[in-house]
Amino acid sequence: MTTFNKITREKVLECLKQVREPVVGEDIISLGLVREIEINKNHAFLHLESSVEDPSLQEKLRLTIVQAVRGAGASGCEVHFSGKPKSGVNVQVLRSIPGVKHVIAVASGKGGVGKSTVAVNLALALKQHGAKVGLLDADIYGPNIPIMLGIPTEKRPEGNFETKILPLEAHGVKAISIGFFANPEQPVIWRGPLLHKILEQFLHRVDWGGLDYLVVDLPPGTGDVQLSLSQWVSLSGAVVVTTPQEVALSDVRKAVAMFRQIEVPILGVVENMTGAIFGKGGGEKMAGVFQIPFLGDIPLEAQVRECGDSGLPIVAGYPKSPLSERFLKIAEAVRKVLK
Ligand SMILES: Nc1ncnc2c1ncn2[C@@H]1O[C@H](COP(=O)(O)OP(=O)(O)OP(=O)(O)O)[C@@H](O)[C@H]1O
Ligand SMILES: [Mg+2]
Repeated sequence: MTTFNKITREKVLECLKQVREPVVGEDIISLGLVREIEINKNHAFLHLESSVEDPSLQEKLRLTIVQAVRGAGASGCEVHFSGKPKSGVNVQVLRSIPGVKHVIAVASGKGGVGKSTVAVNLALALKQHGAKVGLLDADIYGPNIPIMLGIPTEKRPEGNFETKILPLEAHGVKAISIGFFANPEQPVIWRGPLLHKILEQFLHRVDWGGLDYLVVDLPPGTGDVQLSLSQWVSLSGAVVVTTPQEVALSDVRKAVAMFRQIEVPILGVVENMTGAIFGKGGGEKMAGVFQIPFLGDIPLEAQVRECGDSGLPIVAGYPKSPLSERFLKIAEAVRKVLK
């Protein structure tokens, strides 16, 4: 007598499409968490990327999967989770984003220098120059874009990760951020691999509807996200933000070295928080040292922070102010290079 294999790979896939990742709420297939499905006799062996730190949540997920697969006819189901992303698996290398002409990364070697502030105001300034602009918040651990753009925390983008996500819009700029999906009260407890998946989905599943520029606000540093981003999408250029002090030199050096290594053209350096406290001229000096363009400086002024905190960035709220003019000039310089 031959044993008849009731369970098939297709059936398992179908089941798994019904299983939702406990934190994000999207199904585990769309999120790309399933690495391997093996069927032996009528038994399913699954290999998943772990998405949560919390072991009890992981066990709950395991149970849901086992029940679903057994419900579909498997005699048994084993689920193995692993925490490290396996490169190349489920990662479709789509280096261009349909309908997006230029992707610009805003980066710095260290935190708190004003990347998000520059990214938001640069996006708005490009918009003022008549371009169609999107803003992608790649800071998955500390998303600031929702607050800076004044997007209410309860607002959720339409669509889903499986098909298309529609970005939200504020001040004429489209935006996507993990902050639009997370519960603001809940600390981010997702594991790196899932965060990477989400960022990848942000790059390839968001329906921007045609953009001249997609500005990407990067997290601080020269780590994983920066490198992954450049693998997933072809960056037209990077804007490096720094503060004027001498000590920032080594941070800029790191950022510049990274972009050179991954062959992303550096559009230039922006010196932020220029003035009495931090001094002036460091950014320009660095641009000279690294032979990259100096795009301009933005003074340290309370109004910049107040505008960011209130959800009405300076370029949107006070487009004619001298501060906004500086951002407009920086945008003009970027536009000259990336038409
Ligand atoms: N030119 C400026 N004048 C006054 N305040 C500023 C200026 N630029 C940024 N800030 C304020 O400094 C703080 C840090 O800025 P921002 O969040 O843009 O930095 P970041 O580099 O994105 O930080 P992180 O590394 O945490 O992502 C914010 O409160 C912001 O409003
Ligand atoms: Mg930031």
